[in-house]
Amino acid sequence: MIFLKTPEEIELIRKACALTSLTLGEIAKWVKPGVTTLKLDTIAREFILDNGGKPACLGYAGFPATVCIEVNETVVHGFPSNYTLREGDIVGTDLVVELDGMNGDMCYTFPVGEISDEKYQLCRTTKESLYKGIEVCKEGNRIGDISNAVQRYCQNRGYTVVREMCGHGIGRDMHEDPEIPNYGRRATGPVIRSGMVLCIEPMINMGARHIVIERDGWNCRTRDRKPSAHYEHTVAVVDGKPEILTSFEPVYEVLQDRFI
Ligand code: MF3
Ligand code: CO
Repeated sequence: MIFLKTPEEIELIRKACALTSLTLGEIAKWVKPGVTTLKLDTIAREFILDNGGKPACLGYAGFPATVCIEVNETVVHGFPSNYTLREGDIVGTDLVVELDGMNGDMCYTFPVGEISDEKYQLCRTTKESLYKGIEVCKEGNRIGDISNAVQRYCQNRGYTVVREMCGHGIGRDMHEDPEIPNYGRRATGPVIRSGMVLCIEPMINMGARHIVIERDGWNCRTRDRKPSAHYEHTVAVVDGKPEILTSFEPVYEVLQDRFI
């Protein structure tokens, strides 16, 4: 069931998203060669707690960390570890913050030092596809319009779309209806209405679309071990139009001219 949010509820989600965005900015300060992914997780957890939030992924269905870490071929749900980031890696950090009972969810894939042009283009295209999806996230359109916009943009540029993982609604729960696949047909699926709050999150591969979930039940990587990128915003439909509640600005401030 899709829960439509009141303007008051959207204000609360906006606050949760603001803290999520600031947390991503804190993570951005630490993304460089030689830093472990566990360090990124610690930074995020402490910042969230210091600001009155709750790391929503920690303990969710048994997930052991605050941030999902996605290095190179990892698609989603990677565990932070003592892996040390290396020049040329790309690392996605996906996090959900709960504040006053509401959740904000976002993901940014960072370059670690200098990255190859191939990886840069993958990240760039994935991020652009997120905005293509957001553009059509308006009242009267349907969820399939978002899915189709993302899929067309990425496939036209030679990339493939992960099918097993989707975007989702959000609010009091981190995962609410509807599911938002990153592939699909226009004019299909639930109708988009004002009051919906949706997480749009393209997960896009350089090689084949297929994934493997490791034996821990979480870490999800590409089958061919080629890189995958992932960007996510939480978006509210307000007066019929999309309003992005999360923001990459804190990340851009840190990355300066190195942003993707
Ligand atoms: N941001 C992820 C998502 O979009 C969060 C899920 S990770 C989990 O669904 F560990 F909390 F499950
Ligand atoms: Co999400």
